[in-house]
Amino acid sequence: MKATAKAHTNIALIKYWGKRDEDLILPTNSSLSLTLDGFYTTTTVDFQEGLTRDVFHLNKEEVFGEAYNRVSHFLELIRNISGKQDLYAKVTSHNEVPTAAGFASSASGFAALAAAGSRAIGLDLSDEELSKLTRQGSGSACRSIYGGFVEWKMGENPDGSDSYAVQIAPSAHWDVRIAAVNLSSNMKKISSRAGMKRTVETSPFYDGWLESLPKDLAQIKEGIRDKDFEKIGEIAEANCLKMHATTLGANPPFTYWHDTTMSVMYVVQELRAKGIPAYFTIDAGPNVKVLYLPEDEAVIEKTLREIPNVTNVTLSKPGPGISYLGVE
Ligand code: DP6
Repeated sequence: MKATAKAHTNIALIKYWGKRDEDLILPTNSSLSLTLDGFYTTTTVDFQEGLTRDVFHLNKEEVFGEAYNRVSHFLELIRNISGKQDLYAKVTSHNEVPTAAGFASSASGFAALAAAGSRAIGLDLSDEELSKLTRQGSGSACRSIYGGFVEWKMGENPDGSDSYAVQIAPSAHWDVRIAAVNLSSNMKKISSRAGMKRTVETSPFYDGWLESLPKDLAQIKEGIRDKDFEKIGEIAEANCLKMHATTLGANPPFTYWHDTTMSVMYVVQELRAKGIPAYFTIDAGPNVKVLYLPEDEAVIEKTLREIPNVTNVTLSKPGPGISYLGVE
């Protein structure tokens, strides 16, 4: 009753920003991401007779509190699906998502947990079913089931049966790169979960954001199909700016941007003015991800590292979906 799975993180080019159902994690819009090869989580789930509660170790340390509760709640879903309510698990996770790279690890974390947990308890889920299960741990994680370019279709059904991710193109389709630019910042963190909730409930800009999404999604899919870098970059950057604009309209208003966030955005736009195609995107934090093409890697890395208060730049290629490293 033991399985190990590996899942890579993903970065959204069209953002998921808001839920229509908080328990089932059903989004208000479809989103699209690129899975990255450099950052992943490896998780072993071992269901054992005799355990009286779940136990969770992350990077060799036992985890308690909110992070533990989210993992244990998720295992409860797996127990319910399998009908084995009395079995608790030992979960051992390793994040190859360096905090210094500024990525949230919840996407790779919940995808690896869902894959290892479902296999360990004896379920043989299809990718679609696994994506639906993963979604209930963390929305963006449902995209990490697949490699390459991935769309999370929001679906319409109240029970979430049509809300899952599908692959648009595998990682071998197109070598688009991402530089993760990490900044020194001591800003108080508003989680993506809390930030999107406040925005949905209070921002008058939220309806405009939603209205603009179907066009962004349709056009970026054309850009991916045609390998039109300028097109996908322009759409991704504008989509990120619109998402962040909704937070300024929230009550109370907030922003994830730091002064260095804006310096990086400015440098990326300057690179473009010099003829080097580069575009930025930003999630629920001050760090910036920069999209670029392999031939520009050296100049991109050097330019980003020279920005004051940038602490680290980590480069990544498109990566694969879930893999299983062992089932016993
Ligand atoms: C800004 O997936 O972390 O990164 O579903 O509440 O766990 P929960 O939220 P989460 O939100 C990610 C938001 C985002 C955009 C994106 O990845 O699409």
